[in-house]
Amino acid sequence: MNDIRGRVTKDGIHIYEDADFAGMRAAGQVAAEILDAVISQVKPGVTTAEIDAFITEEVKRRGVISATIGYKGYRHASCISVNHVVCHGIPGAKLLAEGDILNIDVTVIVDGWYGDTSRMFVAGTPSRKAERLIEVTHEALMRGIAVVKPGNTFGDIGHAIQTHVEANRMSVVRDFCGHGLGLEFHAPPNVLHYGRAGSGPVLEEGMFFTIEPMVNLGRPETKTLADDWTAVTRDKSLSAQYEHSVGVTATGCEIFTLSSADKSFRTWE
Ligand code: MF3
Ligand code: CO
Ligand code: CO
Repeated sequence: MNDIRGRVTKDGIHIYEDADFAGMRAAGQVAAEILDAVISQVKPGVTTAEIDAFITEEVKRRGVISATIGYKGYRHASCISVNHVVCHGIPGAKLLAEGDILNIDVTVIVDGWYGDTSRMFVAGTPSRKAERLIEVTHEALMRGIAVVKPGNTFGDIGHAIQTHVEANRMSVVRDFCGHGLGLEFHAPPNVLHYGRAGSGPVLEEGMFFTIEPMVNLGRPETKTLADDWTAVTRDKSLSAQYEHSVGVTATGCEIFTLSSADKSFRTWE
């Protein structure tokens, strides 16, 4: 167990202190910079293992720690989820083909603080429907983030995400959620990406958590493959995901993992 300062709410959510935002900002920025560096590596003909090796090197070069290597027996510095893989794709011999869409998820530990973020990448040029899926997923994440402020609830976040996704005739994955983080990787609460406005714990200044919606072009159901990690859509439809780590401030929130080099950042700005 980590030595975590500050208070814990009745829902078991840690309330961090003002000074702790700097630690999260540093960790979040390293994770985001690593994803920035990956942009140039993603192209047809490259394997996901090669991309993961590049990420491992970037983690080392910065003198930080990968949170995923050794986590519950996981052995890689990233999860790479291609096409109908929803999340927790294991890097391997899979060759990227023209038009493949992939989520790359990186978590690093910097001075004890966890920075957790993921983005969509495309090998070559995506189909129109893949591009729409990616845009809707990113917009859903940013709409969820937009309602993060003291007094709103976790249900408001889920509601904002679900409303946008379903208005675009896509579906929100229920089987995986975001999570509290800070001086630990996965902490309360479960941050659902669907729900009713006003439900769930009330947001308070000093809460740190991820929002990481997974959106499918088809039905929301997933199944996990025999490797016990890879989650795929049951109907084989395409899936996309974006993830930011955020902290609740007095008036809204700070996005620890934002990067101006992120192409999706510009479309949202
Ligand atoms: N980064 C993932 C998350 O968003 C967790 C990956 S755990 C791993 O929570 F072991 F699969 F890497
Ligand atoms: Co996460
Ligand atoms: Co992640």
